[in-house]
Parts: sequence; C-alpha cells; structure tokens
Amino acid sequence: MGRIKVMSIFGTRPEAIKMAPLLLELSRRDEIESICCLTAQHREMLDGVMHLFDIKAQYDLNIMEPGQTLATITTKALNGLGAVLETAVPDLVLVHGDTTTTFAGALSAFYNRIPVGHVEAGLRSGDLYSPYPEELNRKLTSQIAALHFAPTARNADNLRREGITDGVFVTGNTVIDAMAYTVPRFSGTFGSEIDQIDWGRRKVVALTCHRRENYGEPMTQIFTAVKTLVERHSDVEVVYPVHLSPAVQGAARSILGGVDRIHLIHPLDTVQMHALLSRCHLVLTDSGGIQEEAPALGKPVLVLRRETERPEACDAGTVRLAGVSGPDILELAEELLTDQNAYQAMAQAVNPYGDGTASRRIADAILWHFGKQSEKPADFSPGSDR
Ligand code: UD1
Ligand code: UDP
Repeated sequence: MGRIKVMSIFGTRPEAIKMAPLLLELSRRDEIESICCLTAQHREMLDGVMHLFDIKAQYDLNIMEPGQTLATITTKALNGLGAVLETAVPDLVLVHGDTTTTFAGALSAFYNRIPVGHVEAGLRSGDLYSPYPEELNRKLTSQIAALHFAPTARNADNLRREGITDGVFVTGNTVIDAMAYTVPRFSGTFGSEIDQIDWGRRKVVALTCHRRENYGEPMTQIFTAVKTLVERHSDVEVVYPVHLSPAVQGAARSILGGVDRIHLIHPLDTVQMHALLSRCHLVLTDSGGIQEEAPALGKPVLVLRRETERPEACDAGTVRLAGVSGPDILELAEELLTDQNAYQAMAQAVNPYGDGTASRRIADAILWHFGKQSEKPADFSPGSDR
C-alpha cells in the first residue's frame, strides 16, 4: 500500500474548529495523503475557520440554504458526497462529532464501502431528543465507524456499554489542540463595539445559545433571564455573538435587542471567541464546544440545557447544568455574581478534555491501524504527559 488516502468530511463551524488541528497534523505525515471535503452545511461560519487555520478544501458541496431542514441537509449531503467518494476513493473517511453532516458523511462512506473514523466519538446524553438531532447522529455514526476516537475514558466506556470495543482509542479532544493555535494569535482588539467595555470594572457575561431543542419557549426563558440579570446588576455587561440561524437571530433580537449593556454581535472568529472566553467573568451557553473550552480557561460555565454529554467538567466543579427555566438560570447566575466563594469554587482551570496532543494520537492510531506504525498510541488520561 502506498500513502493512505484520508478524506475528512465536515460542514459546520464546530466541526471545522475541531478538525483543523487534525488536518494540519495529517498533512505533516509522509505516509498520509490528506483530502478535505466540505459539505458547507454552514457557509460564513465555516469559511472563517478555514481561513484562520489556512486550510484548503479539495471538494466543496456548498449545500447551505436559508431555512434548511434536517432532511434537505441530509439528502443534499448524501447526493453530493456519493459522487465525491466515487471520484476520490479514499482509504478512510473521517467525520467529526454529531451534526447532520457527520451522519451523512458516515452513511455515504458506508454506501461506498469505505471505512469510517469517528473523531469525538462516544459522547452520550442518554436522551435521544436532547440534544436533538445530535444524540441520534452520534449513535448512528458509532454503528458505522470502524475507528472511534473517544476524547475521554468515559466516552470510551459509553461505547463499550453499546458493545463497541474494537478500534476504540482515547485521544483527548482536538479542541484543546485548536486552542494552542488560537489563544496566542489574539491581537488584543475585537474590532467591534465590545472594545469599548471597561473589562476591569464590568463583570462580562459571555452568552451563546443556538440549539434546536432550545428554539421557542426555552430560548424565551433563557433570554428573559439574561435581560433581568442585566437590569438588576448595573456592573454586568453581556456579550452575545449571535449564531446566524434566522430562528436564533429572531428570538435574540426580539427579547435582547436594544437593551442597555447587552451586545448582540456578529459571530466572532475563533481567535476572538477564545479571547472573549478568557477575558469574561462568566459563561452562559448551550454550546457543546464551549463547555470544553471555558473550563480550560478557568471560567465558570452555566449550561443552558437540561442535560449534558460532557459531564467531566461538571464533576470537576467548573460547569453546572442550569436547565432552561428562567428563574433557575437567574438564581444560579446571581449566586455567581454576588457570592465570591461560590464563584471561586467554580473558577478553576481544569482540563479533563485533552492535553493538546489529540491530533497526534489520532494520526498515530490511523498509521497503526493501517500497519504503517508498530506502536499503538497510548490512551490519553488527564494529568498524564506524553
Ligand atoms: C448545526 C448543527 C449543530 C451544531 C451547530 C453549530 C445539525 C442538525 N445541527 O446547527 O449540531 O451545534 O450547527 O453551530 O447538524 N447559517 C448561515 N450561515 C452560516 C451558518 C448558518 O446563514 O454560516 C444559517 C442558515 O440560514 C442555516 C441556519 O443558520 O439554514 C441553520 O444552520 P444549520 O446547520 O441547519 O443548524 P445549526 O443550528 O447551525
Ligand atoms: N465560536 C466561535 N465564534 C462564535 C461563537 C462560537 O468561534 O461567535 C466557537 C466556540 O469557541 C467553539 C465553537 O464555536 O469552538 C462552538 O460552536 P457552536 O456553539 O456553534 O456548536 P456546538 O459546539 O454546540 O456544536
């Protein structure tokens, strides 16, 4: 066998952020030909990440459309990917996480009898409808994949409980590798209205909220709690880079638009987002990736969801599940804003999700699987150095 042809398929912002360091690593390996195929389920939010990490895609299906449904994303991705896989014929397809692109990418590879490696495998909330549709996407992807790159030992245990024992590697999460790239690159300014904030005197709350299961009443509850928080605490300022989804834009603007000390801004590039997370006082989010990033930066996180598939930082004490009821969110946020002890107990830097070498471990695992390397990579465990 010559060089191993590895095709990475992804399409949304978080997949791109977490696949970028792996693509850079794969391109450094002589034994691997790395190919990138975008579904472009997202467009602007994806392109920003590609630009930031200076990664070029060989294939781009450009499927995004306003008001896309789960069915249209799936069918457009499946149709486009079929043709790409027939042309490129990779030895391995890599998909990431739990989006519709993830599942469509894995299914397309299966239809073409190409083995799949699943990056960020084994996360489970235990509730098929929350996060929706992500919990099903990742479970179905696990059924298809031959290689499972689980960020933590707990994620690997989830797979074992489902009878998946072969091809499981504990690697850490590539998001920690991505942060090693982004954090040193901050220029010191955001280039927007938030540069006017007096970061020393204000308590800045970084907010993100975009999940489909939070559309409607949960978002109304969340945004109303945030508005009340700002009205009650004159030292609080909220920075919310609003996801480009029209459903989210509409809800955010109707409740939080024009409110003093609430900044609804365009999505930040990832260097700026990580700078916001490291400068802010507190994080309110329903994002998956931010639950992994903020603890590494020593920031308390209140998760605006009923469940999480990322319990490691909850156990470490830096993340708490706040739920989606306005009064509950308000109470927890106020406690952290007014009780120094409660705040300090949560504001510790913890890193259960990786040591910055996940991409290296994944590349090594691929080489080992294809018989190009004799040594199997050691599993990641928090606190261990490689
Ligand atoms: C998707 C993923 C979700 C992930 C999120 C990350 C699915 C079902 N959902 O959700 O798991 O957490 O991405 O952000 O795969 N839009 C733009 N420009 C962009 C991106 C989005 O205009 O660059 C708008 C489009 O109108 C699009 C809408 O946002 O139709 C929703 O995008 P979509 O990918 O369907 O859902 P997300 O909520 O982003
Ligand atoms: N992010 C970003 N700019 C923003 C908001 C988020 O770069 O304005 C990054 C964030 O730091 C994290 C990722 O996007 O790495 C999370 O993406 P998102 O919340 O959209 O999806 P999820 O992780 O919930 O799937």
